[in-house]
Amino acid sequence: MDQPYYPINDFGPVMKGLVIGGLGTLHVFTAQFAVGAGILLCYFQWLAQTGRSAAAREFLRGYFRFLVLVAFVIGALTGVGMWFTAIQISARTIGTMVREFHWIWAAEWTFFCLEVVSGYAFYRCAERLSDRDRFTLLILYTTAAWMSLFLINGILSWQLTPGDWPATRLVWDGFFNSSFWPSLLYRTVAAMTIASLMACVVINTLTDMPLEARKELIHRAASLLVFMVLMPALGIWYFRVIPADSRSWLLGGSAAMTMFTIATVGVSLLIGLYALVGLIGGRLYVNIATAALLCALAFGATGGGEFIREGSRKPYSIRQTLYSNSIVPGDVAHLRAVGSVTHDPYPLRDAGQYPDDQLRLGAKVFRFQCSICHTLDGINGLVHLTGRWTLDQKRMNIAKLQHTKPFMPPFSGTAEELEALVQMLTWERAGRPASWAAPPATGAASRIRAWLEEAGTAPVRPPAG
Ligand code: HEC
Repeated sequence: MDQPYYPINDFGPVMKGLVIGGLGTLHVFTAQFAVGAGILLCYFQWLAQTGRSAAAREFLRGYFRFLVLVAFVIGALTGVGMWFTAIQISARTIGTMVREFHWIWAAEWTFFCLEVVSGYAFYRCAERLSDRDRFTLLILYTTAAWMSLFLINGILSWQLTPGDWPATRLVWDGFFNSSFWPSLLYRTVAAMTIASLMACVVINTLTDMPLEARKELIHRAASLLVFMVLMPALGIWYFRVIPADSRSWLLGGSAAMTMFTIATVGVSLLIGLYALVGLIGGRLYVNIATAALLCALAFGATGGGEFIREGSRKPYSIRQTLYSNSIVPGDVAHLRAVGSVTHDPYPLRDAGQYPDDQLRLGAKVFRFQCSICHTLDGINGLVHLTGRWTLDQKRMNIAKLQHTKPFMPPFSGTAEELEALVQMLTWERAGRPASWAAPPATGAASRIRAWLEEAGTAPVRPPAG
């Protein structure tokens, strides 16, 4: 298939991955909260109707109002926002996901509708319903919410561990992939954790209630945190099933990824210890500040988790199928022959600011092949990363991109494109002067060709084991 081109947006100094990562974290946090809240509500409804807790009924009302506001509104807004952002960041990735999992998305949407309708019905009518009907409605709500997690989880985990799918192209081979179960179970525990911490915030706002009753509610809500003891085992299971190269980025191979992994694991352990030792073991009361802080930490851990999942997939957005920069691995050789942007129809923004055509070509090559993971002089900026290199060092390290750092895809353009990219970076480094006499490049083209040849077109394979 010919390389399709889509418009590529520029988010200034912010890396594209951070744009989708930021929105994604908010969305995942809210969506998981909605799932966990369902489980928590079922539990409290049961406590209320079996006479185990007198205060549970009042809590249900307060918590549900909060749930509707936060989860439904923010969840739905960020959900639509995710589609919009995903299309801008990588139209080809989201396009492949829609094409391969069309009916899964459709089923997910149906469950989401059921979740919203049953949730709203509870919100409007719970006061007038019998306990039995309230319980049924909550079970319906929770099942629907969890099922939408179940379905989305299959698609997201497939991106990193596509299983037999690349060979068979069968939906279920991709869906029930090796990281499906550990990540589904991990997310379910995370959902209960978030819901329970949020409940501690809400309980603190029920100021009409006597302190003793609030204490009892906090203790009940905190009992959902007990499932956090499963997290280390689920995390290790996840680490074991992801590809060896991805694992190696997280455990030292990439400084940024390793730092994120340590921070995420550390924060999760901190919450877990506080929950198990303090809240459950010591029956502590958490005030609103501590509860809010714990929620903020959980938000951070959610972001870290998503960053780990997305970041460890490099250089792919769909493993073995599509590189992060929307190039199909099998097309690299072809693009090296015909040029990566020869047929890119989209003009540069402010093309006039570049002094000549070579720099314009370089800018297009950067936009198409590198800008998904790099900015020029913002986060992970190439001008900074290549700042001290000589021209030939830039040429060689970019020609051998997948060897320079194994989490980058191979360079996928001609020697002329590569030279243009190097010149553009050098011009940027020089402060974008209005006129530019390219430094002499005697024999550069043939050296670049030799380096490209040496690098080959395949990604670098993970170390064995
Ligand atoms: C899949 C994402 C991804 C793509 C696509 C990508 N890079 Fe990178 N690149 C990275 C990451 C991550 C780093 C690590 C930065 C660090 O170490 O701080 C990096 C590092 C680099 C470095 C510094 C290497 C070193 O040894 O210090 C250079 C140069 C570079 N990239 C050039 C490019 C160029 C040129 C392109 C486009 C042709 C490109 N990259 C495409 C992710 C990517």
